[in-house]
Amino acid sequence: MKTIMTVLGARPQFVKAAAVSRAIATQPGLHERIIHTGQHYDPGMSDIFFEEMDIPRPDHQLGTGGGSHGAMTGAQLQSIEAILLAERPDWVLVYGDTNSTLAGALAAAKLHIPVAHVEAGLRSFNRRMPEEINRVLTDHLSELLFVPTPAAGRQLRQEGIDPGRIHLTGDVMMDAALYYRELARRPAWFDDLSLQDDAFLLCTLHRAENTDCPQRLRNIFYGLAASERPIVLPLHPRTRKTLERLNLQPSSQLHIVEPVGYLEMAWLEMHCAAVVTDSGGVQKEAYFHGKPCITLRDETEWTELVELGVNTLTGADPGLIAEQINAPMSHPSCGDLYGDGRAAQFIARILAEP
Ligand code: UD1
Ligand code: UDP
Repeated sequence: MKTIMTVLGARPQFVKAAAVSRAIATQPGLHERIIHTGQHYDPGMSDIFFEEMDIPRPDHQLGTGGGSHGAMTGAQLQSIEAILLAERPDWVLVYGDTNSTLAGALAAAKLHIPVAHVEAGLRSFNRRMPEEINRVLTDHLSELLFVPTPAAGRQLRQEGIDPGRIHLTGDVMMDAALYYRELARRPAWFDDLSLQDDAFLLCTLHRAENTDCPQRLRNIFYGLAASERPIVLPLHPRTRKTLERLNLQPSSQLHIVEPVGYLEMAWLEMHCAAVVTDSGGVQKEAYFHGKPCITLRDETEWTELVELGVNTLTGADPGLIAEQINAPMSHPSCGDLYGDGRAAQFIARILAEP
């Protein structure tokens, strides 16, 4: 029996783990233990995902949320190391590109415990993003690299990573979207806002490059204020804090609500006219649910969506945002760019190999 020690801590990792942990549970020869770093800690940013998505309860809770990058990553590193020394798992499994990802990979690699990285090979080529630093380092610390797309695999080979360690699996977020779509749930507040199906924009906004720069954030809000459709914005706590600090008032068609759970988010994605976001995961989910995406960033890791014409980059340019959110919307159909919904099973099989 092999023990997989999963390290997670932020919202997108719960979604990815929901798919992979289910596959690990049914894969003979594997046993999973989970460390939750506590990077995200509000009930609406963490607990709700474990409850709704039936993710196994973490075996360890580290409570390392908040603080600067160094303080957070350092605290995570120290706590994870102690657990790995005590438990000596066969693999450490990490997801994506957050500080929790890097801390898990670094703690394991220094103890010579092999690291498996889900969503490897993604690049924005923008080293000012903390995520870019986290993902490059994690990839180069990993023994097994599970890539969602052929482009991600090519990138890793170009960086000199042994092709034998790279596995093209498809995207585990696609697995989650297919599995949970039947359970998608209309938010209780939806009707109170007098919103109609296919007639509103769904927006999310949390990326450091947008929220840490007051002028960018103001520009994004100017752009959104020009929308001819109502906008629903389930607001990340980071952005809420910045808005309060800047005393930035939303325009009348912008409905700011608390972050929603995955099932309500999926429903909103399935029923909106279009998605407007700076999230990595939400860009893909727009495509999974057949919706166009307007991305409030200067570049994206998911370049295939831009090439396909279903994702448009506006950066924080208010004129471009206004133009794109009011442009005629066509609904793309989801193809096989991200696999067939069995990425997690594939990953579990590889982890179980002798
Ligand atoms: C983190 C990830 C980012 C990912 C995002 C997903 C890093 C460097 N960034 O960004 O890649 O896209 O998660 O959502 O790892 N906060 C709360 N309650 C919470 C969580 C956060 O109030 O439950 C507030 C705190 O003030 C915290 C701030 O948000 O300091 C930022 O949280 P943090 O986890 O550092 O970064 P995110 O912006 O969430
Ligand atoms: N999500 C959610 N509720 C929200 C906003 C996002 O359930 O209010 C989900 C979303 O559907 C996706 C994941 O969170 O599965 C993406 O996480 P996030 O945007 O925080 O991070 P990123 O993908 O940018 O790293």
